[in-house]
Amino acid sequence: MSTLSQDELKTLVGQAALKYVVPGEIVGVGTGSTVNKFIDALASIKDQIKGAVSSSVASTERLQALGIAVFDSNDIAELSVYIDGADEIDHQGYMIKGGGAALTREKIVAAQSRQFVCIADETKLVQCLGTFALPVEVIPMAAQRVKRQFEAMGGQVVLRLKNAVPLVTDNGQHILDVTGLKIADPLAFESLVNQWPGVVTVGVFAHQKAHICLLGSSSGVKTLSF
Ligand code: 5RP
Repeated sequence: MSTLSQDELKTLVGQAALKYVVPGEIVGVGTGSTVNKFIDALASIKDQIKGAVSSSVASTERLQALGIAVFDSNDIAELSVYIDGADEIDHQGYMIKGGGAALTREKIVAAQSRQFVCIADETKLVQCLGTFALPVEVIPMAAQRVKRQFEAMGGQVVLRLKNAVPLVTDNGQHILDVTGLKIADPLAFESLVNQWPGVVTVGVFAHQKAHICLLGSSSGVKTLSF
């Protein structure tokens, strides 16, 4: 196969994820440019599913524009599958997510799903999490304190901006992006940071890790199982 662009790889894995969608059911849908490809592919089988639970306003708008019903997560006890992208994924299925600022809702929908299928291009596969700046959603009044806690661990922290002002998430909160950390024990790291007052969600997905990763490469879609 000739070399494919990153965009083409995203299309490839977005389409490959369709086989994990259970006919007649509601599917959990993540957020991001790779998921957008999945949503576009999902439109082709929209008559075979009941609809979706979405992890962001952006995905909800895209789903609805394509005629896919979006359900409130509170009305659905359990989903069979959640499809989402990642900023980094390691060989255990642990991930960094939140590049699109949707990490909190993504973790909620992942937690209510029996299976997490991650769709990503091969540049996202890493040995150890931490090269991609770790997103952390925080309550604004805690931002400086949380920043100091990461700095004490050796991290460098920036408040994410949009149009030169702090980005506001779908939940009305802010995002800190943390670099300089090597996350050797994702489960312990996630548990630790989640306990800090003012942290809404840390972008390490270890307790809600991927079960399957569909990894786009120039030789096709590789399926990793964890
Ligand atoms: C959004 C996310 C995305 O899944 C992650 O940023 C990957 O996005 P993309 O598919 O655009 O590379 O966590 O909050």
